[in-house]
Amino acid sequence: MNTVLLLGRTGQVGWELERSLQPLGRVVACARSEADLSRPETLRALVERVRPDVIVNAAAYTAVDAAEQEEDLAYRINADGPAVLAEAARELNAWLVHYSTDYVFDGTRGPYSETDATRPLNAYGRTKRAGEEAIAAAGCKHVILRTSWVYGARGKNFLNTMLRLAREQEVLRVVDDQIGAPTWSRTIADVTAAILTRLDERRFSPDMSGIYHLASQGETSWYGFARLIIEETRSLRESSPRIEAISTEAYPLPAQRPRDSRLDCRKLTEIFRLTFPTWQDAARLCFKDSLVK
Ligand SMILES: NC(=O)c1ccc[n+]([C@@H]2O[C@H](COP(=O)([O-])OP(=O)(O)OC[C@H]3O[C@@H](n4cnc5c(N)ncnc54)[C@H](OP(=O)(O)O)[C@@H]3O)[C@@H](O)[C@H]2O)c1
Repeated sequence: MNTVLLLGRTGQVGWELERSLQPLGRVVACARSEADLSRPETLRALVERVRPDVIVNAAAYTAVDAAEQEEDLAYRINADGPAVLAEAARELNAWLVHYSTDYVFDGTRGPYSETDATRPLNAYGRTKRAGEEAIAAAGCKHVILRTSWVYGARGKNFLNTMLRLAREQEVLRVVDDQIGAPTWSRTIADVTAAILTRLDERRFSPDMSGIYHLASQGETSWYGFARLIIEETRSLRESSPRIEAISTEAYPLPAQRPRDSRLDCRKLTEIFRLTFPTWQDAARLCFKDSLVK
């Protein structure tokens, strides 16, 4: 019987993980009040109390634009906290599963593989990259899943923003010159559970430990994603807005974003024999499951 310690249970991915991890054993799921990554010094006592076989860290500072003003806090949550979790995992010989982002890349030439050089364009990306490095340096058994453009029925994300704007506005102006792969939080949770099952079945070999890319298959722009959302959820509204493609420059934000942050996910398929849905199929499943009645 495994014990899994899950951090970030209230987030998009954490919410789905609490369900997906159930078949693996006892899941001790923590919210921010029980495991605060901005207070890294408190985390070791938690890990020592729970004595997990696996730590799954879905908690993070994810406010990309606000991070430009709060890089120290973001660093504590995204790098210092995970570093303590990694050291505690090493001492218990536990696995640490952690999530990172396509925003560690500069977006000049996707699709990116795990060995490509990183060059974050913004503070959030820098703190997430520092978290990856801290975990690797701690020397625990780890799986870092870099993912992209996360959405789900729950939480603050592009899907929910588009659904809200579709009720409020006649025209939606959406950026069409950043490409990537929208990835459903449930896909991430289910793939995490499948990875942990595979790890449980096999003898440990050091090459399993490391960074993996995990995203839906295919690619689109935010505009392309918005079109699918609006078309597939027509039945929720009396009328649907017109969608207008705009450039990144026409929608200035505090944090710079990569233009092409597609992730090459072949390593995950090769090592763990897992495949992923296309971004359209996953989005339709999400809408069917959660939105369209
Ligand atoms: N969202 C994306 O588009 C995206 C893209 C690529 C990678 N990722 C990565 O995927 C992972 C999951 O992201 P997500 O989209 O599920 O994030 P999310 O929905 O923003 O949830 C973040 C979670 O972290 C918690 N949290 C924030 N500050 C904390 C702190 N100081 N201590 C403890 N918990 C804290 C939040 O708790 P509260 O509910 O209390 O705020 C929440 O449970 C993260 O590592 C993120 O960097 C996300």
